[in-house]
Amino acid sequence: MTEFAADRLLLFGATGDLSRRKLLPSLCALDADGLLPENLAIIGTARSELNDSEFRNMAREALEEFLPAERRGSMAQFLNRLSYQQLDASTIEGFDALAAKVADAGTRKDDEDGGLAIFLSTAPSLFGPTIAGLQHAGLTGERVRMCLEKPLGTDLESSCAINDAVAAAFPEDRIFRIDHYLGKETVQNLLALRFANILFEPIWNSNVIEHVQITVAETVGLEGRVTFYDDAGALRDMVQNHMLQLLALVAMEPPTSFDATAVRDEKVKVLRALRKAAANETVTGQYRSGAVEGKVVPGYDEELGKQSDTETFTAIKAHVDNWRWKGVPFYLRTGKRLPERVTEILIQFRCVPHSIFEGAGTGLKPNKLLIGIQPEEDITLSLMAKVPGLDEDGVRLREVPLKIAMPDAFAEKQRRIAYERLLLDLIKGDQTLFVRRDEVEAQWHWIDAIRAEWEANGVTPKTYGAGTWGPSAAIALTERDGVSWHE
Ligand code: BG6
Repeated sequence: MTEFAADRLLLFGATGDLSRRKLLPSLCALDADGLLPENLAIIGTARSELNDSEFRNMAREALEEFLPAERRGSMAQFLNRLSYQQLDASTIEGFDALAAKVADAGTRKDDEDGGLAIFLSTAPSLFGPTIAGLQHAGLTGERVRMCLEKPLGTDLESSCAINDAVAAAFPEDRIFRIDHYLGKETVQNLLALRFANILFEPIWNSNVIEHVQITVAETVGLEGRVTFYDDAGALRDMVQNHMLQLLALVAMEPPTSFDATAVRDEKVKVLRALRKAAANETVTGQYRSGAVEGKVVPGYDEELGKQSDTETFTAIKAHVDNWRWKGVPFYLRTGKRLPERVTEILIQFRCVPHSIFEGAGTGLKPNKLLIGIQPEEDITLSLMAKVPGLDEDGVRLREVPLKIAMPDAFAEKQRRIAYERLLLDLIKGDQTLFVRRDEVEAQWHWIDAIRAEWEANGVTPKTYGAGTWGPSAAIALTERDGVSWHE
């Protein structure tokens, strides 16, 4: 692997939603903190006809809208790094001009120390032509990295086709596949919790853990992404990537070090150990009108303007078939228009093997560990304690939380947008928090089997009111195992 810090960053889709909401704000915030390489030039490209100063104006407006004022620093310094080249990526013609612009932007023309990081945030249909154009223009050399944003295909086959096209121009050690959940501080903290504390690892298995719940709940609906979302659905939009990555981090064996190969080797083993979900282990739903956060919102079909069989909610009982997790269900659920925005992981431990406290009224409950990813970043271990008193009617116990709120524990530390970390790692060339090809393909393999099952059984989503926790079948999925979703 060639090691270099990129001195040029080329953003495809530079005028798009992701660029405006996340990429430009993240880069500006890094710049304000003095974390970008001093000489880094950022070249935007997209279909729109803009010159450099019009692009800078667009960027300024995006920063004013999406980056809090206190994180902007000197916007002028950041905006000075930006330039723009119009391009229709579907044809080869414009790529020579793009290459010339990229060469102009670099401070080191000899390419000896610097290098180029390319961020592709465009429709997947443009991936192939873009790679061909880059190859034609000589922009795929040894000192070029390629970063890909989702969606990387719609199933295993299309994902392989994209991966093949990219692999024809870049070796795997220069391909950076984004899953922005891996850029979240609390997600990385899962690794610290598990592998920097002696307490948890000895009990992190089926002997002591009864089940795991992973919830990624959103209050938003379609948000103007009608066509994309209706072709994707919750399973492909959220489970295939973010939720399976969370599951892999919870379930993986300890890697030997915090490096890209060691971490990803362990994650992929978990993904490959996922058992094919049975028909009665999945639930799908689609929201109807209702109220979310006190506001009346329309149903999915109304937002879409037609009937659709796309699921906006899914719940799955997953199993990791290996020694550690034998018999431990992983309940996953995600959905749009749920009552609150929350991403959390619940580790439910087993009951003590024998209670010394007599009587039904003691209040003894099994321990649990709740890992809040967003919006609250906290870790809560629920422990049993004795209720103070003389215990004339016997000892009474109550669950008390041992809680660490990360923002309080690290009050002096800046909270960052997930893309800040990922963009910096891309510029530096650290792949640890990027998804390797074998992981993506193992993810798709499991997801495709679920979709095939839905198709074979003619499964269509059950309706749920916006502002509720999904269809009642999602509750039944866990209740029949004697488990309640954490709410
Ligand atoms: C994206 C999905 O990958 O993640 C969106 O396409 C979803 O549908 C988003 O809203 C959620 O990300 P976050 O960081 O807000 O939890």
